[in-house]
Amino acid sequence: MDLRLAGRAVLVTGGASGIGAAVVRALRSEGARALALDLAGGADVRADVTDEEQVARAVGQAVGELGGLDGLVCCAGVSGPVGIGAADVALADFERVTAVNTVGAFLTVKHAAAPLSAGRDPAVVLLASDSAFTAAPGMVPYCTSKGAVLALGRSLSVDLAGAGVRVNSVCPSIVDTPMSRTDLQAPQGFGEAPYPVQAPEEVAHLVLFLLSPLARAVNGTHLLADFGASATSSFPA
Ligand SMILES: NC(=O)c1ccc[n+]([C@@H]2O[C@H](COP(=O)([O-])OP(=O)(O)OC[C@H]3O[C@@H](n4cnc5c(N)ncnc54)[C@H](O)[C@@H]3O)[C@@H](O)[C@H]2O)c1
Repeated sequence: MDLRLAGRAVLVTGGASGIGAAVVRALRSEGARALALDLAGGADVRADVTDEEQVARAVGQAVGELGGLDGLVCCAGVSGPVGIGAADVALADFERVTAVNTVGAFLTVKHAAAPLSAGRDPAVVLLASDSAFTAAPGMVPYCTSKGAVLALGRSLSVDLAGAGVRVNSVCPSIVDTPMSRTDLQAPQGFGEAPYPVQAPEEVAHLVLFLLSPLARAVNGTHLLADFGASATSSFPA
């Protein structure tokens, strides 16, 4: 299947690691021109997505280097405090998770919207999470931020429809990345883990489909990739 992404200009936040880096690799292997925006070294464009001036400058730099913008993927994210009950979560930690995961995605789309509206079949994909739907104990800041990312994507899809920009979210369960290895204390990876884990490359496939003009009728929705966990009933059949 030809995803018709060859030659497309795409900016990927959080593109220096994990899912974002896999998206950049997958885009380039399809012939797209992809740039990674990240705080971390190794990024093509350096910026902190919580800082509006940095985001505006970085998006402008990327659009200049790419000669336009056809796609945006927002992967920059942090998990924040994991395993800490709400009563013990520091306000600063809650606000930091919201700032990166939710506000960072908003700021990036805000500054990319104008160049995207002049792009070819423009599309945005936000990395939400299955944590937008389900929760484990001790993850209140992260789950809250990802629920907001889902609502952000739906509202942006309506807001940007007039500009011809589609917006969808991808909601994976555990993906083998530096983030999950740290949170789940699995420095060597998930070999024999008693729960399903997907590879960042598998998530990248979903992102690329949503970016593709083949998905032109898919807008304002999400793709939940959780091995069916959230569909499972508690009915004791
Ligand atoms: N790994 C998982 O199990 C999983 C599951 C569902 C959703 N997600 C989401 O996928 C996205 C990517 O996560 P990952 O697992 O690849 O994590 P990761 O830690 O490997 O990569 C995240 C990247 O975001 C960058 N980043 C963090 N804060 C930033 C900031 N303020 N400005 C710019 N860049 C910043 C980091 O430098 C890093 O390169 C995140 O939004 C995460 O919440 C991850």
